[in-house]
Amino acid sequence: MEKKITIAIDGFSSTGKSTIAKLLAKEYNYVYVDTGAMYRAVTLYAFQNNFVGTSFLAKDKLIEHLDDIDLDFQYDEKKGFAEIYLNGENVEQQIRTLEISNLVSKVATISEVRRKLVIEQHKMGAKGGIVMDGRDIGTVVFPNAELKLYMTASAETRAQRRYKELIDKGEKVTYDEVLQNVNSRDEMDSNRKDSPLVKADDAIEFDNSDMSIEEQFKSICDLINNILS
Ligand code: DC
Repeated sequence: MEKKITIAIDGFSSTGKSTIAKLLAKEYNYVYVDTGAMYRAVTLYAFQNNFVGTSFLAKDKLIEHLDDIDLDFQYDEKKGFAEIYLNGENVEQQIRTLEISNLVSKVATISEVRRKLVIEQHKMGAKGGIVMDGRDIGTVVFPNAELKLYMTASAETRAQRRYKELIDKGEKVTYDEVLQNVNSRDEMDSNRKDSPLVKADDAIEFDNSDMSIEEQFKSICDLINNILS
């Protein structure tokens, strides 16, 4: 039977993890799981229910309602990747706003939230043949992944990329707001107690500030083909 490996991609926000992950999933016919979307969907639920806002986090209330949150990924043939559903509703657009980006790292500090999502991530990746991206995939979720990548780029490069994405979607944001969000998420994601973003000892680091997608894709495919051969 054809060997199917687990590919873990971690790194700061807007380092192009999902772009590379989608390309790899397509190339190798693997399943792609965007774990950031899962944290964002829980955050959207918390926001809609008034459990989180700019200046508060009703942690106990959110924990009490965790069983009411049903997340599901459904593959969209046309788009070529799976979109996230929160309690039956496609929330792919709603979770990507700057408003949710500004709240998600706060929600992601809650251990009970992390435990719930890691259980689902384990189920999705149980059979291998998966590309999963996030912050703790190579360290916590799949510490035995055959390939671990750690993506980095300067905060300014990342903010510029995210700013362009948001403007293209018609959001009214300034570059400074986006840079501030990138910096504050880096800070929270790296310093939280439970499963902070750190490079796994055996992860391969890619600083893609000055690297094209094609260059990254080619180097990563070489790594994968080596493992598979
Ligand atoms: O990948 P992203 O920027 O969409 O992720 C949104 C947030 O979710 C990120 O700032 C931190 C959190 N996250 C996490 O804590 N662990 C993961 N595995 C994925 C995301």
